[in-house]
Order: sequence, then C-alpha cells, then structure tokens
Amino acid sequence: MLLGAQWGDEGKGKATDLLGGSVDYVVRYQGGNNAGHTVVVGDQKYALHLLPSGILSPGCTPVIGNGVVVDPAVLLSELSGLAERGVDTSKLLISGNAHLITPYHTTLDKVSERFLGKRKIGTTGRGIGPAYADKINRVGIRVQDLFDESILRQKVEAALDSKNQVLAKLYNRRAIAVDQVVEELLGYADQLSGYVADTTLVLNNAIDQGQVVLFEGGQGTLLDVDHGTYPFVTSSNPTAGGACTGTGVGPTKISRVIGILKAYTTRVGAGPFPTELLDEDGEKLRTIGGERGVTTGRDRRCGWFDAVIARYATRVNGLTDFFLTKLDVLTGWERIPVCVAYEIDGKRVEELPYSQTDFHHATPIYETLPGWSEDITQAKTFDDLPKNAQKYVQALEEMSGAPISAIGVGPGRDETIQINSFL
Ligand code: GDP
Ligand code: IMO
Ligand code: MG
Repeated sequence: MLLGAQWGDEGKGKATDLLGGSVDYVVRYQGGNNAGHTVVVGDQKYALHLLPSGILSPGCTPVIGNGVVVDPAVLLSELSGLAERGVDTSKLLISGNAHLITPYHTTLDKVSERFLGKRKIGTTGRGIGPAYADKINRVGIRVQDLFDESILRQKVEAALDSKNQVLAKLYNRRAIAVDQVVEELLGYADQLSGYVADTTLVLNNAIDQGQVVLFEGGQGTLLDVDHGTYPFVTSSNPTAGGACTGTGVGPTKISRVIGILKAYTTRVGAGPFPTELLDEDGEKLRTIGGERGVTTGRDRRCGWFDAVIARYATRVNGLTDFFLTKLDVLTGWERIPVCVAYEIDGKRVEELPYSQTDFHHATPIYETLPGWSEDITQAKTFDDLPKNAQKYVQALEEMSGAPISAIGVGPGRDETIQINSFL
C-alpha cells in the first residue's frame, strides 16, 4: 500500500506509476476527484484525478474501490481524455458499491463553503464532503443504482427531499428537480456498465492467487477525517485502515505500507501548518518545487520538513517504508532547517498533540542541517548524492521512524534512487 504521509501532494502519483509496471492491480480506496496526481512518463505529462495512477501501466488493472466517491461525468471525461492520448482504459474496474457524486453534492459543497465565510475549509469544491455525508446518512446513491431506474428515482427523491429545503431556505438557492438528476444519472449507465464489477471478490481472488495488488491513497495522513487536523481535513480515511474498508481486503493481506513523504512540507486549503514559511524561502520552495495544485490551480502553502508529522504518519499507518520525494527541490540552500519537535506553551513536545488548540499554538523547534549545491537529478544510487544530501536523508530517516527505501530526485519515472525493493 502507498499513501500520503503529510497533507497530500507528496508525489503519490509518481510513486504509484513507478510501481505500476511490476504490480497486477492498482486500487484507489478513498477520496474522489479532489485528488490531483501528476505523472510524468518520458515527455508526456498526465494529470489524474479519479483514476488510479496504475492506468498508465499497460499490464496493470486499475480499480476504483467501494470507498471512493465517483463523479460519473468526471470519470467519463478522464477516460476519454486518456483514450485520446492512446492510453488503454478498457481494463478499469469500478465497485458497484462506490458512492456517486451528483450535481447537488457539488452545489452543496460550494454553497456551504461560502456560508462558512472566514471559517471555510478551502475544499476543492468537488462535492466530496456532501457525498460522504450522504453515504454516512444512508441517503447516498451508489454506482449500482444506475442500473435500476426505479430504485434510483426513489433514492434521489429521498436525498433531495431535505436537501431542497436546505438549498431553498438556508442557502437561498433554487430547488433541484428529481427528474433532471435521474435523467442525467441514467445517461451515464450504459457508458459505465462494462466497468462495474464485484471488486472485493476480484481483489481477494487475485491476492489468493499470488498476484500483487497496490493500494493507492489519495490526499494524506493529516487530511484524514479521523487522524488529521480536523475540521481542516477531507471527508474520508486516506490512512492505512481506509484501504481495508475502502476495498474489502482485510489487514492480514497487506504486507507493506509505504508513506510518501516530501523532503519539505506543503498544504492546500485552510488549517494549521506549524512549519509554514510566509517569507522568501516559502516562495522559493513554491517556485522551484512547482507547488501549484493540480486540481484547483491554487498555490500550495510551503514550509520546512516536519519530523513530528512524519513520526505521526509512521504511527497511525504502521508504515514499513518511506518514499522520500522532491529532494532535488532543496538543492541550493546553504542550510536547511528541519522541525524536530514543537514548543507548545513553553514546553517541548515530541509527538503531534491530539488537541486542536495545542496544535494551533505549536511553534517548530528547528535543527539546521548543512545544504548542498550540486545538481542531484542524475543521481542513480545513494552514493551518487553529495555528502550533505546523504546526511539530510539519514537525519530524516532517524527522526521519522521508518526506513527511507526510495528517494525522488525529479518528476520522471527514472529520476528515483531505489534503496530497498518495495516488492
Ligand atoms: P500527489 O497528489 O501525491 O500525486 O502529488 P502531485 O502530483 O499533486 O504533486 C507532486 C508533484 O511533484 C508533481 O508535479 C510530480 O510530477 C512532482 N514530483 C514527484 N516526485 C518528484 C521528485 O522527486 N522531484 C521533483 N522535482 N518533482 C517530483
Ligand atoms: P492529492 O491526492 C492536497 C484538501 C483541500 C481542503 C481539504 C478538504 O492530490 O494529494 P475536499 O475537497 O477534499 O473536501 O477538501 O482537503 N485536499 C487536498 N490537498 N492534495 C489533495 O489530494 C487534496 N484533496 C483534498 O485543499 O483543504
Ligand atoms: Mg496532488
């Protein structure tokens, strides 16, 4: 399994694509098209939102698990966009139990953010929160409902009953007609039917037969609705446990849990971020690292590496390995500060505080490591790295609690130093 160890955008897409050539299945288990995964293959650049990054590896079957929320319009346009570029998308499997994002979810996401004003989360506006809320409230629409018009209509009616009251009375918006939603959704049924499968059965059979299944997390540990910086989180479980509930594969079947970890830190949207840099260094990280959102085009907030967060990710996910990405972005700094602990109300704290109030008051305690100026993008082995880059990686590994098994030195597939095999 592979997941984000920070606030998302760690380079999960690249890491998944790298492994895609040697695995049989790549499975998304949570989130939806709030994700933005950039994958660079040779001179081609792909931006994936909903589809697993394994779709770019010809031998690999991409799977959308039951824990994902699927916007059918986005899915179809992503599929046709890839097909136009010559990517074979025919192997895709979608769980019939995955929930749908409908136009009313997207509308509600946007109006509720506007309503929150200064307290807004800064969501991607893709309807993620409202779709998961309906799932938990038991008024969600699932992929399988597309194939039974009468059930679909009943469910849309049930969902819109209260929503139309809220839209009209609270948000001052026009009510949404049941017929219009049903008609739109039915329009997707034929195009999607060939992809729908009992993915839990398929994946468990594959594992029993010795095939390799890779779970690809969206978002990241600190955006997890249970373990992240609530309420400034997404509405799903990107952490390791989410892969089990989001696919129907039990924890005893999962052998490796790889945390994708950026060599510095970024965050999109609102919420606490202790090592955030609002100065020239932050701007430099943003420019050199190309830290602009793939989904919303927003500038990402940037800061130094935070070892407290990395240790926390090791703990709540049971990480076996880290894949450290974007080390090349740090080339050129004379000295690189790394946050080793926080100071909260005059006390040194080594672990992520569970209290939101404390986390908001946390100020980083930095240790400063010597930087390097040599270009490292051509490095193929750990020994090819300048001594200070090696020391930076070793220091991060010691602080973070799991071995760093691969290092990214550029966006391309081959711009990776593999230290331990993942398989
Ligand atoms: P994801 O959401 O975790 O898949 O990450 P994003 O794709 O949103 O953001 C990561 C960005 O960093 C993408 O533009 C990648 O192409 C790029 N990237 C990934 N790994 C590396 C690396 O090691 N070095 C550099 N320079 N860029 C990388
Ligand atoms: P990938 O997979 C970074 C953030 C949003 C917002 C919060 C809630 O590319 O790492 P949502 O639309 O999910 O309800 O928004 O979560 N967010 C992400 N930030 N990378 C992502 O995905 C994100 N997906 C959601 O910015 O703060
Ligand atoms: Mg991203």
